[in-house]
Amino acid sequence: MEKTSDIDVFSLTKAQAEAELERLAEAIMLYDEAYHQKDAPLVSDAEYDALKRRNDAIEFRFPELIRKDSPSSRVGYTPGKEFAKATHKVPMLSLSNIFTDEDVYDFTDRIRNFLGLTEDEPLEIVAEPKIDGLSFSALYQNGDFVRGATRGDGVTGEDITQNLLTIAELPKELSEEPENIEIRGEVYMKKEDFFRLNQEQESKGKSSFANPRNAAAGSLRQLDARITAARKLSLFAYAYGELAKEAPWQTHYDFLQHLKAWGFPVNPEITLCRNSEEMIAFYHYIMEKRPSLNYDIDGVVYKVNRLDWQKRLGFISRAPRWAIAHKFPAEQAQTLLKDIRIQVGRTGTLTPVADLEPVNVGGVMVSHATLHNEDEINRKGIRIGDTVIVQRAGDVIPQIVGIVEAKRPSDSKDFIFPDHCPVCGSIAVREGDEAARKCMGGLHCPAQAVEHFKHFVSRDALDIRGMGDKNIETFYHKGWIKDASDILTLQVKHGIELPVMEGWGMQSAAKLFAAIDKVKEGIGLDRFLYALGIPQIGQATARMLAKEYLTLENFQESMAKAGDKSSEAYTELINIEGIGESIADDLLAFWEDSQNLEVIAKISAEMKVLPFEPPAMPDSALAGQTIVFTGTLTRMTRSEAKARALSAGAKVAGSVSKNTNLVVEGADAGSKAEKAKELGVKIISEDEFAELLNS
Ligand code: IVH
Repeated sequence: MEKTSDIDVFSLTKAQAEAELERLAEAIMLYDEAYHQKDAPLVSDAEYDALKRRNDAIEFRFPELIRKDSPSSRVGYTPGKEFAKATHKVPMLSLSNIFTDEDVYDFTDRIRNFLGLTEDEPLEIVAEPKIDGLSFSALYQNGDFVRGATRGDGVTGEDITQNLLTIAELPKELSEEPENIEIRGEVYMKKEDFFRLNQEQESKGKSSFANPRNAAAGSLRQLDARITAARKLSLFAYAYGELAKEAPWQTHYDFLQHLKAWGFPVNPEITLCRNSEEMIAFYHYIMEKRPSLNYDIDGVVYKVNRLDWQKRLGFISRAPRWAIAHKFPAEQAQTLLKDIRIQVGRTGTLTPVADLEPVNVGGVMVSHATLHNEDEINRKGIRIGDTVIVQRAGDVIPQIVGIVEAKRPSDSKDFIFPDHCPVCGSIAVREGDEAARKCMGGLHCPAQAVEHFKHFVSRDALDIRGMGDKNIETFYHKGWIKDASDILTLQVKHGIELPVMEGWGMQSAAKLFAAIDKVKEGIGLDRFLYALGIPQIGQATARMLAKEYLTLENFQESMAKAGDKSSEAYTELINIEGIGESIADDLLAFWEDSQNLEVIAKISAEMKVLPFEPPAMPDSALAGQTIVFTGTLTRMTRSEAKARALSAGAKVAGSVSKNTNLVVEGADAGSKAEKAKELGVKIISEDEFAELLNS
């Protein structure tokens, strides 16, 4: 019998093609491994290329046979594609920002209140320059550096072990180390190294970096670590993540001394402050010194020194309560406002955007800025042709602060905000006292439709990598995507056309189809609800809903019932924390629209919506319990009690009902304790509560 490897691509039957794709996947994988991992090629480049071409051609004829491990979509060994993922056992969180001296007092007051500190009890705060670089994590096992990672989304980063290894300042071994420890900090590029790199780039005819941060990011996130090695990167360490043993240090400041002893660079400016005045003095001192520092900073980070207090203070969503970033004032520049464009968003909001003569604002070229809405334009009296003051604060979208009156051209006219959608021509109205004017075209408006589909595939929604804004626009304008479900059936309907479209090829199309297939295997209910783009249902609300209803079926049944406002289902809905009547109205309106239901049915026929998976419950006796606090607590403040109950996996309710499991009774408890007795709900003392917390 003829071997499948000898049959030309156009003569293969489907079954032969399937067998041949399997053979090719295995062979190419073997050759890849030999070449990239062992540096010992098994075949010549020409032979290897021929196999890849044959694989691509078969996939082109039989797109339905493309394998999950297809060599054309595999990101394995070929450099230039993707980093491996690295999970953070202890999430890498971000910081909330403050901007004024007043905010510093509020910060320390909040902490004092939370901890219930008396006025004369000292509260030490460590003040550190906020390095404008990229955060890194470096894991050490038995003293050896074993893994480096970027922050990523805080839970999953990218494995940059090879890249961190090239940074001379990173200790590769720790002497007298605690067993296993993860050190965190910031990788940055010194100003002098940045200037030198840009000179080199320019002399090679390559594009230069806008600022040291971009240069550091561009250098660290190189799949080929030899490039990282050729760039000079530096680092400062300032935190730890996972830790095998209980920390042997009591304060953050002590920990920093250990870091130094282990050989990590620790910022020499770091100062221990005893009160808000000293914190503010440090902020102004470092701001003065900023131009003469050898590295870029964008503010100061304040951290509570005592680690037991840090533990008690805990976190609010993604930021610690025990630390905060005091940012430097925004950078400003003047430039010409060339035009005002109107952008139409996903929910129809018309947003005016300023087209600017490009200008450098604190190291970043800015050519657009948001003007928010028509009231804002009127309030600031902005006209096309004006010279405007542009401001950038951190990662925030550039804003226009005001105009330079003296530079106004004599013939400029007021800007008239359109009352029709510039994209679809539908009427655009302002409802109630809303500042935003909205296009009424709904998904018939191409701009709204495109934004809606972009949202559907975006990172926090379906997360279809490779779909990108540009592709959504192209597919929409070709008529391939009429509703969101068409995104999932792209391969079936357009699998032949896409690979031959300009800018595409077999590999890139296969890669996109593979990404879509992956999503079809299933996403959680919370992501799914968020992806639908229902007005007011952001990530947090979607999560609350998913947590309550657990499965899509249950959610749909409940929504059908909740349409009747006198139903139990409706009461249940508006009792969910964070869901008021207004959100419930939007949600139900969406769910009553038969067109929406049809699209949802089509989507769920294509992909699995997985039941919501609650995060692993903390191992505590309070997990899953609904608690009500009453009376005055003496061992801790009410906010601390509440925060600690939440982090032990309990729910905290404001009033006692039949759903309450426990009432914690402090001194002078009133009606809530009465009600608990009436309903037979268990009442415990504050001491008993504290014991349960520690159990
Ligand atoms: S502490 C939970 N300290 O700022 C606390 N962060 O805006 C985690 N950063 O993601 C951060 N200098 O990349 C801390 N001295 C410093 C810092 C610092 C720069 C960065 C870090 C973080 C970001 C938050």
